[in-house]
Amino acid sequence: MIRTRVIATAASVPEQIITNDDLARIVDTSDEWISQRTGIKERRISSGENTSVFVSDVAKQLMEKAEVTADSIDLIIVASVTPDYGTPSLACMVQKEIGASNAVAFDVVAACSGFIFALSIADKYIRSSGYENAIIIGGETLSKVIDWSDRSTCVLFGDGAGGAYLEKAQDGGILFEEIGSDGKMYEILTAGYTACSNVFNENPAGVDPLWYAHMDGREVFKFATKNVIKSLNKVMEENNITQEDIKYFIPHQANVRIVEVISKKLDIPFEKFYMNIERFGNTSSASIPIALSELDEKGLLERGDQIILTGFGGGMTWGTMLITW
Ligand code: UT7
Repeated sequence: MIRTRVIATAASVPEQIITNDDLARIVDTSDEWISQRTGIKERRISSGENTSVFVSDVAKQLMEKAEVTADSIDLIIVASVTPDYGTPSLACMVQKEIGASNAVAFDVVAACSGFIFALSIADKYIRSSGYENAIIIGGETLSKVIDWSDRSTCVLFGDGAGGAYLEKAQDGGILFEEIGSDGKMYEILTAGYTACSNVFNENPAGVDPLWYAHMDGREVFKFATKNVIKSLNKVMEENNITQEDIKYFIPHQANVRIVEVISKKLDIPFEKFYMNIERFGNTSSASIPIALSELDEKGLLERGDQIILTGFGGGMTWGTMLITW
């Protein structure tokens, strides 16, 4: 059976590290509050580089690791809620940067589930058309949509990008997915609103307050635990597997307490969830591929291992994917 296999992974994050103590100097917060409520100790924050810089760096690393040339790339998809422009897409900027002149390139918006949604699309292209390969990246500079005077959001997020190079294969790879959306709930997590202001109306020009990330933290927490648990259960049940068949669960890194609840409710040992939130915070669409790339880089995955990626985010959206490494 034709499958889509992950051949290489890569990540790229800003050099600048902002610790909880650094944040406690600009808003009324503390290392204790942030660590205990979220598990975050520090995050990477851009010193001015825009999202295209990190996603392009990931694409270059992927081509080098997979030992492929730019003109052989068929498809580039970038997931992001913080692109450089409304148009062009980040994927087209990546295409120019790496010289992948034969690729089709576009972006997807599914917030923190974006990388899984992009993988899902690439899997369909590869399995049902002549596409042989794809570069899939999740990348964000969330720091530009954060209100740095709002302690309830500014302590949570970070910048960076991660991605995977995929190829058509005869076995293994992406085995199963469960993705979903619930637009009714979109208002509990928003960012990047731009008002329609033009010379024919009276809307004030300038940055709208809704440009900044707004979140009903408790509602998002409830949405996340409920839907990720349901989604993980469905993937394991429908594939007739248990947590024991899975080497690692790679969850979206939003809050260590969300993962603790999922681990407890599903009776999956916490150590099976790969976590790096303490070093990167919540990087939205980049969080799962950055974690995957770290696991890969550390040599913790062997070909044939089964892993599960699972995430949730704005929209609201969620997605879980079962992969044979
Ligand atoms: O990628 C998806 C996006 N987001 C998520 O997945 C987030 C899901 N939600 C969460 O992770 C948690 O709800 C938060 C970490 C955002 C908040 O934790 P919480 O335990 O739900 O806290 P809370 O919002 O109920 O706030 C508790 C208290 C409040 O004070 P009072 O009203 O009890 O006096 C807040 O004002 O903590 C206060 N607070 C803070 N205190 C110190 C909120 N933010 C901070 C802060 N430092 N940074």
